[in-house]
Amino acid sequence: MEDVKILAIESSCDETAAAVVVNGREVLSNVISSQIDLHTLYGGVVPEIASRKHIENINFVIEKALSDAGCTLDDIDAIGVTYGPGLVGALLVGVAEAKAIAFAKDIPLVGVNHIEGHVCANYVEDKTLEPPFLCLIVSGGHTHLVMVEDYCQYKILGKSRDDAAGEAFDKVARAIGLGYPGGPKIDKAAKDGNPNAYDFPKAKIADNPFDFSFSGVKSAVLNELNARTMKGEEIVTEDVAASFQKSVVETLVERAMLAVEETGVKKIVLAGGVASNTALRKLFKEECEKRGLDFYYPSPELCTDNAVMIGSAAYFEYKNGTRHGWDLNAIPNLKLGEK
Ligand code: KG4
Ligand code: ZN
Repeated sequence: MEDVKILAIESSCDETAAAVVVNGREVLSNVISSQIDLHTLYGGVVPEIASRKHIENINFVIEKALSDAGCTLDDIDAIGVTYGPGLVGALLVGVAEAKAIAFAKDIPLVGVNHIEGHVCANYVEDKTLEPPFLCLIVSGGHTHLVMVEDYCQYKILGKSRDDAAGEAFDKVARAIGLGYPGGPKIDKAAKDGNPNAYDFPKAKIADNPFDFSFSGVKSAVLNELNARTMKGEEIVTEDVAASFQKSVVETLVERAMLAVEETGVKKIVLAGGVASNTALRKLFKEECEKRGLDFYYPSPELCTDNAVMIGSAAYFEYKNGTRHGWDLNAIPNLKLGEK
């Protein structure tokens, strides 16, 4: 089969990104323009600012992705673009851009689910990885435990009922004064802290053993901080970070291992921004070794938002026959597996 070269665009949150990816696995370019410094000033992502920055940056980012790949739009076989989930104004910038290019060059348009993109980052990281496998997707907006039955075929086993794992990291980091984005800062602070200093809860969901809830542990941290402050007691940030992280990481690993036992699957894959957490990777590695499971995870730059993962997902969707029309719209709450 002929090579398929895809130009991919990602603008669902605070990164404007474009990449050129061949056959879903080979990266010719990977350009990310991050707005993190700007949003840090406000303690989190400000949606309107995100959209405005995307529209300012997107042509430069695409131009660079093409020149880094040593190609022009004439060499591109299809355009892949994130159309959900995410911030509507931010998504619309990427979708409108992708449509304009596909229309002008008369090439196929493939809308991509951002969560599917996170999963597909693993196909780029490890060129031999093939479904079926169990995937834990842990990002700022989503916590999903998914059986990837085949390319583009997902069975959701469980998800968060409230805060996503990354969201809990970000909220706790803000409360203990570490700032935004919280995940990497908690990860770093926790290395100098005692994970057993506080006994934060690990919530279980009665009617689905694979669902998650992180608002309880977040509230427990906030209550502990308030109680200590009222009593004039000292708070050791590193200990809070380490104890909170332990609760979240153990919950995620326990739930995933339960799914391994129920399904008999032999491969486990991590995806999403929180997948770069060092404690999470370490515990997963240990538990997988104990059980003789193959364990896969993307390098940190492929864990957080990027367009390479969208280029990979777009390729597998393209091969599966997915094509979007000129009526493609942003879908802020798009679910995994929905078309
Ligand atoms: O996947 P991502 O880039 O964006 C979404 O699709 O949401 O994930 C961003 C999330 C943020 O909540 C960030 O705090 C978290 O991933 N994160 C981490 C780490 N690096 C990023 N959380 C824990 N430990 C990390 N090392
Ligand atoms: Zn993401």
